[in-house]
Amino acid sequence: MSISEEKIYDLVAVYGSPRRHGNTSTLLSHAVQGAKDAGFSVGEFFLRDLNISPCLEVYKCQQDGECAIKDDFQALRDRILGSKGLILASPIFFYTVTAQTKAFMDRFQSLWVRKYRIDQEQGKRPFKRRGAFVSAGATRGPRLFEGAVLSVRYFFDVLDMELRDSLLCRGLDAEKDVLEHPDYLEKAYKLGYILSSSLADE
Ligand SMILES: Cc1cc2nc3c(=O)[nH]c(=O)nc-3n(C[C@H](O)[C@H](O)[C@H](O)COP(=O)(O)O)c2cc1C
Repeated sequence: MSISEEKIYDLVAVYGSPRRHGNTSTLLSHAVQGAKDAGFSVGEFFLRDLNISPCLEVYKCQQDGECAIKDDFQALRDRILGSKGLILASPIFFYTVTAQTKAFMDRFQSLWVRKYRIDQEQGKRPFKRRGAFVSAGATRGPRLFEGAVLSVRYFFDVLDMELRDSLLCRGLDAEKDVLEHPDYLEKAYKLGYILSSSLADE
């Protein structure tokens, strides 16, 4: 599958799990429903269905801020840059995000280069967007989400996006485990609703 339409959405939802109907996908779909109920248009993108190569360190982006690899990255990037916010969902794989999510994030190095090397930006720009991170892991350790949240925070920074909210759910492993946790599902719905409402206030 590739991203054909050029529609611009208020909010973009990126599904980073290899499981289409797993825990984080279910949580994100509840957040999307919350955002829609708040009156927002939402573009939903499943990384497992897209052709997004990992970064190959070609560094053509050092010349013009554009990535040399032409695949679905550019269309998804433009959907995100045209939006007011993003909700990213990824389960924890070895204490960080999934390979699909990491490949997607790494391709934004081209934007990092544009921002800090080409435009030589100093200090912090005011945020243009607000985002949230939704995650799930099987275990319950206090540091389970630390690596992923740090990666997502710095990824959002490249997008001039504030990490406004995170929903981090422990103890979920089998595909449908989250359905046994109506509290998590309700929190996901509220996350989408509240994030969108905050963007509408801008
Ligand atoms: C390759 C792989 C690595 C994983 N690593 C971790 C881990 O480091 N810590 C953890 O708590 N769970 C780990 N898990 C379990 C998943 O985080 C868990 O099953 C999660 O609920 C999957 O979410 P999903 O249904 O959205 O894909 C791992 C699962 C896989 C397949």
